Amino acid sequence: THQWRGIIEEYRDRLPVTAETPVVTLLEGGTPLVPAQLLSDRTGCDVYLKVEGANPTGSFKDRGMTMAISKAKEAGAQAVICASTGNTSASAAAYAVRAGMVCAVLVPQGKIALGKMGQALVHGSRILQVDGNFDDCLDLARGLSEKYPVALVNSVNPVRIEGQKTAAFEIVDALGDAPDIHVLPVGNAGNITAYWKGYREYAADGMATRTPRMWGFQAAGSAPIVTGAPVRNPQTIATAIRIGNPASWKFAEAARDESGGLIEAVTDRQILSAYRLLASREGVFVEPASAASVAGLLKAAEEGRVDPGQRIVCTVTGNGLKDPDWAVAGAPQPITVPVDADAAAERLGLA
Ligand code: F0G
Repeated sequence: THQWRGIIEEYRDRLPVTAETPVVTLLEGGTPLVPAQLLSDRTGCDVYLKVEGANPTGSFKDRGMTMAISKAKEAGAQAVICASTGNTSASAAAYAVRAGMVCAVLVPQGKIALGKMGQALVHGSRILQVDGNFDDCLDLARGLSEKYPVALVNSVNPVRIEGQKTAAFEIVDALGDAPDIHVLPVGNAGNITAYWKGYREYAADGMATRTPRMWGFQAAGSAPIVTGAPVRNPQTIATAIRIGNPASWKFAEAARDESGGLIEAVTDRQILSAYRLLASREGVFVEPASAASVAGLLKAAEEGRVDPGQRIVCTVTGNGLKDPDWAVAGAPQPITVPVDADAAAERLGLA
């Protein structure tokens, strides 16, 4: 049989683990790399979606969390803590259960999607809603981890980046080489840092002949890397990337500059338009933040900045079910019918 074994077993020799490390896993990774026909037509390129919403808790965070929780367990930690816009906390909560650890979560009050809150709750984590934004939550989590016996599992923990870099390995393994361009949404900037590390390591070891240009997209109301200064009161409907002072800011700039890439902003309108397009034309339901990558690619293509014939991978980071409000909002109400075939056929336009 060929069951996928999770990212630690699949890429053990490329990760900082030993035979003594207890592997805490939900068999994350091994996610689909789906050819995107409409996006390919619109850009004249070969576009693929790396569908990270297919991970066990519905986002890419699971790749980093299997590493962070395994290493925390190896170090003897009994409790972990994270700040989160929702996905990190959902993942930490689930992996902490697997490890038999207590999980504490700090989230910005009223600013995380309902599905993500449900995940943290159902996995039994201790949730504090902080009267502040994500950046405040991260400051608080860092302070607590320095003063109390609780391990920090945010992406400022380098083993998170190690786990997340495996997505780049999977893409090269699937395509036979690195793509020309890799497109990502950017929030706290850990993931673009991780992909760039993964691509560089694979190229250095001869597993790929090149590295891609890294294209990152922030939400326009939360785009500190684009404007060059922290945003005190970040705004966007894409709550997952509502971050004003990214922890991995410098690493994201390095990924951009070393790869010959770019980091730009997309508006909420462009994000929602890409979100609906992915669902209605590609059959891929993602959360709004995830659509920032596709929104950015489409914007660049419309502006004539995407040369045809390239191979492009867009990471879509989280599952649409986490934040279904945006799917329902503005959509027509379903029609109610009696238990009657003729009435149903008429309403469906079949009769
Ligand atoms: N997409 C989704 C769905 C996310 O949840 C995040 C980050 C990002 C993109 C951005 O990734 O921070 O590595 O640049 N979510 C974090 C969280 C902040 O707490 O779940 P990044």
